[in-house]
Amino acid sequence: MAASDDSAPDLTAGVPASSLSKNGTLLGRVGDDDVVLARAGDRIFAVGAHCTHYHGPLAEGLVVGATVRCPLHHACFSLETGEALRAPALDPIACWRVEQRGELVFVREKVAQPRGSRPAAADSPRVPSSIVIAGGGAAGLAAADMLRREGYGGSITMISADQDPPVDRPNLSKDYLAGEAQDDWIPLWPPDLYKERRIELLLGSAVETIDVSSRTIRLESGATREFGALLIATGADPVRLAFPGADSARVRYLRSFRDSQAIVNSVRSAARAVVVGASFIGLEVAAALRTRGIAVDVVAPEHVPLERTMGDEIGRFVRSLHEAHGVVFHLGDTVASMNGRTVTTSGGTSLDADVVVMGVGVRPAIGIAERAGLAIDRGILVNEYLETSAPGIYAAGDVARWPDPHSGDRIRVEHWVVAERQGQVAARNMLGRRERYDAVPFFWSQHFDVVIRYAGHAERWDSVRVDGSLELRDAAVSFIRDGRRLAVATIGRDRDNLVAEVELERSSVAQ
Ligand SMILES: Cc1cc2nc3c(=O)[nH]c(=O)nc-3n(C[C@H](O)[C@H](O)[C@H](O)COP(=O)(O)OP(=O)(O)OC[C@H]3O[C@@H](n4cnc5c(N)ncnc54)[C@H](O)[C@@H]3O)c2cc1C
Ligand code: FES
Repeated sequence: MAASDDSAPDLTAGVPASSLSKNGTLLGRVGDDDVVLARAGDRIFAVGAHCTHYHGPLAEGLVVGATVRCPLHHACFSLETGEALRAPALDPIACWRVEQRGELVFVREKVAQPRGSRPAAADSPRVPSSIVIAGGGAAGLAAADMLRREGYGGSITMISADQDPPVDRPNLSKDYLAGEAQDDWIPLWPPDLYKERRIELLLGSAVETIDVSSRTIRLESGATREFGALLIATGADPVRLAFPGADSARVRYLRSFRDSQAIVNSVRSAARAVVVGASFIGLEVAAALRTRGIAVDVVAPEHVPLERTMGDEIGRFVRSLHEAHGVVFHLGDTVASMNGRTVTTSGGTSLDADVVVMGVGVRPAIGIAERAGLAIDRGILVNEYLETSAPGIYAAGDVARWPDPHSGDRIRVEHWVVAERQGQVAARNMLGRRERYDAVPFFWSQHFDVVIRYAGHAERWDSVRVDGSLELRDAAVSFIRDGRRLAVATIGRDRDNLVAEVELERSSVAQ
């Protein structure tokens, strides 16, 4: 990777330790590599400057203990080994040896990083001989990746109803839909990696039943598989509205890569789109289609978009942002029917549409867990180790409702980073680690050039505090209940969101 900034200091020539910023970081160069120096206590580390998720600038991240967190989507890397300790990054960053001579810090040679060979987990008698993962999404892939990183040597089978191998789903409503990301950016892993890591991938293949007592699953095809441990990571399905004309070919839903590709194909010659629902996905779709120059009407029952999850202040800001880009809202309304190219709303408005994208929420895909008799409560109930009511069967991601130590509630969320981190923790627990899932939830959403980052979880709050200015795109919005800050949304204050995440980690109600 070419050094992006020639003015960055050459770290092999030595830099004064005092030149590290008050954040404890300094961006420099080692040959062609961008390298960041990071101070953790009285030690200084040198690691690759770019996050392996989406190239986030780690020099602008937060050093916490001997780790650095990425300001974009909160991946966490070990400064000692470079390992991606917490998703969404899965791959390590490089590390260099550091030598301190008096006040000067020199970066020496790159340190070799053996991948995925911790002391063989397979040696423990508690380790299952085979692991089946139902679902080829965020949680499923992160689990498979972690199992191999932990040295698991048994068989891993990932069964996915999707036609494609695991993809970067959040991109499907953002750059990919806007025409700003290529097809080959979307798969999470290159195809060869499944073979290299010995992960059997069964695509277009749905698990139909789980027999808990014989530890066997049956696929829709009738084939069966035994498992030593099972992870249910079946995600969520879009809610489908019933209205006259709902089966029109113009009406589209968005969950899979194919769904996004189908929308891209259908809008190639389109002039007008209607988005039904002012959810995160609906609004991201609206932004992506506007970026393509398509006229967009959004029809949604709420009076302020995103108000239920983000509050009035951010909701109004997001609405004005979209309006400034030409999106036309029809709020307090819903779709009543579709006839040819005409969408008629319940309020009687007629809208012209070449394509209609439905973004009216999702339902967790818990059918197989229900049929297996697992404990269910608007999601699959799991304990703090992400284990379901059946020992050896775990659940992670959009399907899982877990005891959140920060709010004290059992919660279920639909966040990419949470799904991946749960997959990682479930993987370690399948190997007998007994690790609690206690990460503070985090998600982000992108609307044109504005990214909202949100740490914590607040379903209800009694006050909202806005620090800074939303209009100036420089704000932190805190959601407070009974005097406790439950969650923080930031715009233009990425590092503050990391700081808030750490503060929320330290303020759990249940330790
Ligand atoms: C378009 C879009 C944009 C998003 N953007 C963001 C964002 O910006 N930020 C954010 O935090 N979150 C975002 N999300 C949400 C995020 O993608 C999800 O929370 C995350 O993918 C959940 O991961 P998961 O592994 O639980 O489920 P998924 O990633 O949905 O994977 C579930 C998998 O299970 C498979 N499956 C389902 N049923 C079965 C079965 N019976 N047998 C076998 N396989 C089955 C599915 O085919 C799929 O492969 C977005 C979601 C979408 C759809
Ligand atoms: S770019 Fe670092 S977490 Fe996404």
